[in-house]
Amino acid sequence: MNTVSGFSKMTKEQKIEWLSLQLKGDASTLVRNMPHYWHQDKEVQKRFDEFSENTLTNYNLPFGLAPNFLINGKVYAVPMVIEESSVVAAASLGAKFWLERGGFKANVLSTTKVGQVHFQWQGDKEKLQQYFVETKEELLKSVTHITMNMNQRGGGIKNLTLIDMTDKLENYYQLKVEAETCNAMGANFINSVLEEMAKTLKEGISKEPRFTNTEKEMHVIMCILSNYTPECVVECSVECPIEDLGTFAGNMPAQEFAEKFATAVRIAEIDPNRAVTHNKGIMNGVDAVVIATGNDFRAIEACAHAYAARDGQYRSLSSVSLAGEKFKFSIKIPLAIGTVGGLTSLHPLAKTSLAILENPTAPELMQIMAAVGLAQNFGAVKSLVTTGIQKGHMKLHLLNIFKQLDATNEQIEKGKEYFSDKVVSFTAVRDFLKNN
Ligand code: MEV
Repeated sequence: MNTVSGFSKMTKEQKIEWLSLQLKGDASTLVRNMPHYWHQDKEVQKRFDEFSENTLTNYNLPFGLAPNFLINGKVYAVPMVIEESSVVAAASLGAKFWLERGGFKANVLSTTKVGQVHFQWQGDKEKLQQYFVETKEELLKSVTHITMNMNQRGGGIKNLTLIDMTDKLENYYQLKVEAETCNAMGANFINSVLEEMAKTLKEGISKEPRFTNTEKEMHVIMCILSNYTPECVVECSVECPIEDLGTFAGNMPAQEFAEKFATAVRIAEIDPNRAVTHNKGIMNGVDAVVIATGNDFRAIEACAHAYAARDGQYRSLSSVSLAGEKFKFSIKIPLAIGTVGGLTSLHPLAKTSLAILENPTAPELMQIMAAVGLAQNFGAVKSLVTTGIQKGHMKLHLLNIFKQLDATNEQIEKGKEYFSDKVVSFTAVRDFLKNN
């Protein structure tokens, strides 16, 4: 591959042309075919292009729907964007099962988000603390032009603290801003507040007569929100009499299923190797809704996993109790998401997703995401402790292989029957097609 300058200034067509000339054979043809995935409506395509930089084309993912989610007494049909087979099916199946058993009970525990000004300052700590206490109101006042709108919506800065971190890193302090950002994810709001406050604090310190010349220098390292939001958490649970689980457990007796299920979750609580996969199953559901609604899945992922390790060991985000003949399955997960701002209104399909969900508030969307994560986890663990995960996966895998080998509809129907009790592999399917 050659280097290039001025790439960002090229048109999309020129970028594709340049790239295709760098490649040979199939790779070059594939790149030349990229315009095939452009949106036919030029205005829509322009909008997609502008979300990012150096865009060449669109990368399509399936947009599915998991209906019948009863959450706090309200029924939702949940949009899910995910490329993995079986995820939407499992969510839908779980939703249907719990629909008939009171549905999901969800509760937002808190919605506080955090930002930090990281800075270094050398001098008498007591003097800095005292200065902070005396000028805290001024600091807050210096950002009213940014916070005014958020305050009117019932949000804004809820807490401002100076944290001495000098025992961890020489001269290192943090200005910690805790904020309520209402229906916005709040990254822009928090980052703007932080940068403005850092400026005010630095300027104030530089002019403060009580400080020596060295103390008059504040070195701002960075101002940024924290994606770790252990105070922006939702919990969600489902429960039913253990005997009800029989209908979901296939041939397994309900009590045995409940115990095996609880043990599987317990294993994810004590073993990080299993916990990561267990939580990945939860995130299959959560991320699909996060992406469908135009939220930031990297932030959600990073935070969920840090939260799963909050006591020093990585553990399951969900838990089970089998007390008093009752099966109770619950999840607690931080979800710093938004229903206004960012991509939520710019991406036509994010907007559509929110409309399908009847334009929820951010806390309501947190509840929906947690319910989908729990349903997903319920479906995955159920499959694992009963039939095994491959059975469901293999059905779709089988179809994919048939498609790759250009099987006819008749061959596919016959093949589904044939492979219902056999191991699916590419070779086995090819051999089957030779004889059928
Ligand atoms: C696959 O995407 C997700 C599972 O591995 C989750 C789990 O093991 O619990 C099935």
